[in-house]
Amino acid sequence: MEHKGTVRLESERLILRRFEMTDTDAMFANWATDEKTTKYLRWNPHESKMVTAEYISGIISLYLNPMTYNWIIYFKDEDTVIGSIDFHAISDRDERLELGFCMGSRWWNRGLMTEAVRTAINFAFGELKAHKIGASYQEENVASGKVMMKNKMIYEGRLREHYRRNDGTFSDVLYYGIMRQEWEKRR
Ligand SMILES: CC(C)(COP(=O)(O)OP(=O)(O)OC[C@H]1O[C@@H](n2cnc3c(N)ncnc32)[C@H](O)[C@@H]1OP(=O)(O)O)[C@@H](O)C(=O)NCCC(=O)NCCS
Repeated sequence: MEHKGTVRLESERLILRRFEMTDTDAMFANWATDEKTTKYLRWNPHESKMVTAEYISGIISLYLNPMTYNWIIYFKDEDTVIGSIDFHAISDRDERLELGFCMGSRWWNRGLMTEAVRTAINFAFGELKAHKIGASYQEENVASGKVMMKNKMIYEGRLREHYRRNDGTFSDVLYYGIMRQEWEKRR
């Protein structure tokens, strides 16, 4: 792959850009404290702005590494940041990345994450020359699966009792993927 780091990307309604410390207040207000947002995530709502500031500072320190892909999502219409999207579990050998995303519930169901994911997928195949992008979600997180399907990702399998929920029970995880040749075909 040809790594480029977290460069600025733009779509019709969104700008994907690097986190900045000045995003702390908006992240805290718009999604880091939103229990609906964190319900299926691997972290709990932030208890103070200090937690959000430390989180952002940690991401910023990783930007020196050109294999870091972690964008904050800026919503042009409302002039504010509303969520984030990232690539993790990057395997250069396999030319593969995995997508993660989250957004404040006030902005759900308007196609915004589908648009952000489309932008990130186009970047990974078009600019980074990735071979495959994967993503997975806890099975009851139907909206997350829809975002993957609407981006033509294909169901690959079920990881049984793969995540531990906050209540101590375990949940299956569904894995989706898209390969370069599938992305090229649909363009
Ligand atoms: C998952 C998430 C990113 C979706 O973002 P979004 O901008 O609302 O997504 P979109 O509007 O692009 O698409 C959501 C789709 O799910 C559908 N949907 C939402 N809730 C649903 C539900 N409970 N059951 C069935 N479909 C549902 C919407 O109708 C929409 O489909 P449609 O366009 O065909 O109508 C957002 O809900 C979120 O941030 N959740 C919390 C964090 C998270 O779970 N991240 C993913 C971890 S894998």
